Amino acid sequence: METLTIRGGRPLRGRLAVQGSKNAVLPILAATAAFPGRFALSNCPPIRDLAVTRALLEGLGLDTEEREGVLYVESGGPVGTAPDPALSGRLRSSVLLLGALLARRGEAEIPLPGGCVLGERPLDLHLRGLEALGVRVRCEGDRLLCLGRPAGGTVLLPYPSVGATENLILAALGAAGPVRILGAAKEPEIRDLAGFLRACGAELRGAGSSCVRVTPRPLHGAAYRILPDRMEAATWLCAAAATGGELCLTELRPAQLRPVLQVLRRAGCELRETENELRLRGRALRAPGPVVTGPYPAFPTDAQAPLMAALLRAAGSTVIEETVFSDRFRQVPGLRAFGADIELAGRLARIRGVDRLRGAEAAATDLRGAAALVIAALAAEGESRITEAWHLDRGYGRFAERLRSLGAEAEAEENQI
Ligand code: EPZ
Repeated sequence: METLTIRGGRPLRGRLAVQGSKNAVLPILAATAAFPGRFALSNCPPIRDLAVTRALLEGLGLDTEEREGVLYVESGGPVGTAPDPALSGRLRSSVLLLGALLARRGEAEIPLPGGCVLGERPLDLHLRGLEALGVRVRCEGDRLLCLGRPAGGTVLLPYPSVGATENLILAALGAAGPVRILGAAKEPEIRDLAGFLRACGAELRGAGSSCVRVTPRPLHGAAYRILPDRMEAATWLCAAAATGGELCLTELRPAQLRPVLQVLRRAGCELRETENELRLRGRALRAPGPVVTGPYPAFPTDAQAPLMAALLRAAGSTVIEETVFSDRFRQVPGLRAFGADIELAGRLARIRGVDRLRGAEAAATDLRGAAALVIAALAAEGESRITEAWHLDRGYGRFAERLRSLGAEAEAEENQI
């Protein structure tokens, strides 16, 4: 969608099943290129980044087909080593093909990846880690040339990069000996990647901890159900909280959202949870105290913008510190158009609650920033228009339809061709 028009001022109410996780399905799809097999992935989200990744895999020689809600992938044939540069440039997770193709072919030519612009997003942790496994890395213009089947050994990650951890796990699948990754990221999506790989016969221990061990062995295809998307869940919770609504989310794992739930409770929301269901009742919100983003299990950076939008009318002032990305407050100018009172100082944002928000026009800048603008528009009085709304399609499936199912007045306009 190009533009999303919302008439705000109504509480969100209803029940919604959380979709499959974007940040789990993308590394799992990259993994299907790392070894021959037939795969059946269920609970895949209907999002643009998945469609682009399927096209990347097909360009490498894999076959993909969706039938009755299951995504089938076949990677038994010959697989190329150079993904399509135009497609790779559209999302960050294309870099994960690096590890998969090194495992499969011992070489890879990867264009520098794209994705949300959130400040500096270097690849040094990926590349130094691969070099520690004996891979020769050369940068030629906007392409990365990597040569050599990874050796066994130990990699030390100085920062728990999610992508670097995933890339090293995928490369380790084809290594000449066991690989240990110390300082690994602990996100639930990494545990889901490990769950998928173990279903394919991998010997992989420690996923979800800071020490992951992979012992290479022959692997095979498998059927696997993708983890629910904790960031989509956080987005809907923030939207319900911002509008004083009542929301029941199903098919999620509340335990993976603990820091977000703690902040929403401190802000005055009533939350009741079972193992895979969560009920939120919004109240007049109050400032929840300081929020600091960080690697899992800290408050997730992907929930920072949606939470900021939910707190725009909370009584008092809240300071958010963004420690993961260097420029992840790009939603702030758009939020100010709705009347938000936000002061920025480096990696700190101070939100002072205002009594009312007014409808406005604002342009989305990235996936989670776009969600923040939607939340502000839902809480604002009057009509709002969010342009560059295609950012939402990258990570939220059937977004406008799901908004309307919760009682929102939302209309999507497609590109005028
Ligand atoms: C993944 O990105 C997610 N994307 C991001 O979600 C998420 O925000 C991020 O992890 C952190 O949780 C996917 O899983 C597809 P990182 P990734 O490597 O792997 C720096 C969304 O909205 N860094 O953990 O790129 C980097 O610049 C997206 O769904 C290096 O310095 O994140 C950043 O400051 C946005 N060198 C920090 O580490 C490197 O080689 C965290 O990056 C790699 C990263």
